[in-house]
Amino acid sequence: MATADSPTDLMERIVALCKRRGFIFQSSEIYGGFNGFFDYGPLGAELKKNIRDCWWDDMVRRRDDIVGLESSIIMHPKVWEASGHVAGFTDPLVDCKVSKQRYRADQLFFAQVFIENVEFGPESINALVDKGRIKKEYGEALTNGKFNPQSVSVGYVSALESERTKEELNEKAEEFKKKFQIRGQLRPIDRTLHDMTEAGADEIALIPSPATGEPGSLTPPRSFNMMFQTNVGAMTDGSSVAYLRPETAQGMFVDFKNVVDTGRVKLPFGIAQIGKSFRNEITPRNFIFRSREFEQMEMEYFIHEDADWKKCHDEWIEWCKNWLLSIGLPESHLSLYAHPQEKLAFYSKGTVDIMFQYPFGVQELWGIAARGNYDLTQHATASGKPMEYFDEATKKKFVPHVIEPAVGVDRILLAALCAAYAEEDVKDDKGNVEKRTVLRFSPRLAPIKVAVLPLMKNKPEIVDVAEKLYRKLKRKWNVFYDESGAIGRRYRRQDEIGTPWCVTIDFETIEKDGTFTLRERDTMQQKRITETELFQLLEEKVY
Ligand code: GAP
Repeated sequence: MATADSPTDLMERIVALCKRRGFIFQSSEIYGGFNGFFDYGPLGAELKKNIRDCWWDDMVRRRDDIVGLESSIIMHPKVWEASGHVAGFTDPLVDCKVSKQRYRADQLFFAQVFIENVEFGPESINALVDKGRIKKEYGEALTNGKFNPQSVSVGYVSALESERTKEELNEKAEEFKKKFQIRGQLRPIDRTLHDMTEAGADEIALIPSPATGEPGSLTPPRSFNMMFQTNVGAMTDGSSVAYLRPETAQGMFVDFKNVVDTGRVKLPFGIAQIGKSFRNEITPRNFIFRSREFEQMEMEYFIHEDADWKKCHDEWIEWCKNWLLSIGLPESHLSLYAHPQEKLAFYSKGTVDIMFQYPFGVQELWGIAARGNYDLTQHATASGKPMEYFDEATKKKFVPHVIEPAVGVDRILLAALCAAYAEEDVKDDKGNVEKRTVLRFSPRLAPIKVAVLPLMKNKPEIVDVAEKLYRKLKRKWNVFYDESGAIGRRYRRQDEIGTPWCVTIDFETIEKDGTFTLRERDTMQQKRITETELFQLLEEKVY
């Protein structure tokens, strides 16, 4: 990947490039931005469209067993009651009463500070009690020497989830020890970390707030529903409450019968949808990784109740992984995470996430869940409409089971950006070393496929050929015409936005054989190419 100094630097550079070259802007930027919302600029909109189109083509159009759907964003509120979202689509949150900051409890980590061979300074224990780091009774026990000097707990440190959580906790423990003048060896914080959902009632008062660094202000975790509410119609009372959908999946379940009755589908088959989802995330962060308005690409693959769900689940995990490779994500950045059985919802048979190595850590990209027949059964019960499938072969009716691969367009886009971003030292025409920033997007995803560059803008014969080629290419692909600046600078501008190829129309084109110079982004090598060969190249690589 890139050569930037630290993960934070790298993310900052990627964010800066996105703004500079018109990929992604803050939403409502002129009003100071709006946390958790983003706008996609001209290049970002193309990149996003390419992700959607590749997925739709591979998932729906090129398969015989999957059909598409576009359901409404606002659905009957009963949909979300039946699906369990009204009661259970919650995150545990913790408030800091002093700073008024709000944290997701599962992203706020804490650890107990243990000192081995401890020696307290004259005021250490009093200070620990006064600052609320330990309870009074425990302070008295310490003062009276009622502790094991081999290893003693002297309080807590906390840190927000990041790729450095453990290091940060250790640094804070070191500072803690100094601040309270405690001698001895710090026991490294290297075990499984605990988050605030696991904090005991006694511990909460002793855990420092990440905002103030002081204990005593954090509340116990409480549930917060993440669905955005709105009102439908003229009334704004309880009867008009509706929700912006937090996932596209429910559309497929609610329309299951409609598709079966009209779509000439036979098990196993899938229904796929791409669309916006909305979640009032407590801590939107890491740029577009976790936002409040985002786009999902979900597919519900319905299978026979007696089908080998495990095999089907494995096949979909493999399919999703291969698809990510086909759009250029490096295999080295992908890994699988199987959710532990005890953390699964009661109806779930298994969930595996495809994880991606983002600069800020390994994070979920794509979830592939085996959901049994829970969703269809819930809607059948709540609506009173049967959701059964009639199997011609056995003449039996049953509620199909489902495998659900669910992914966010924005998360794929961010993964593609991070994997593609590189800074390199290269030599210019005169042999001077210069820095080039390059986005090595796969041709499938690249917002611009080819840049057409007339060598000189004041040679009508050259410009004429260039313009004709540009118009011809533009019928099929997104291409760019650039006649300003030295050719080397024009190449660099295209490198920075990830254009895989530049074609230069030069004197050889008009005076000799009509061929162009094709310059390849990644190798920077150049070769002569005919128009037919150029079209063949694009047909083959952009699919
Ligand atoms: N129907 C199942 C479902 O929605 P999920 O794991 O909550 O499952 C699926 O979401 C995918 O949607 C995630 O793997 C992620 O790619 C994307 N996603 C979820 N929340 C997101 C957010 N706040 N911002 C961006 N993408 C998000």
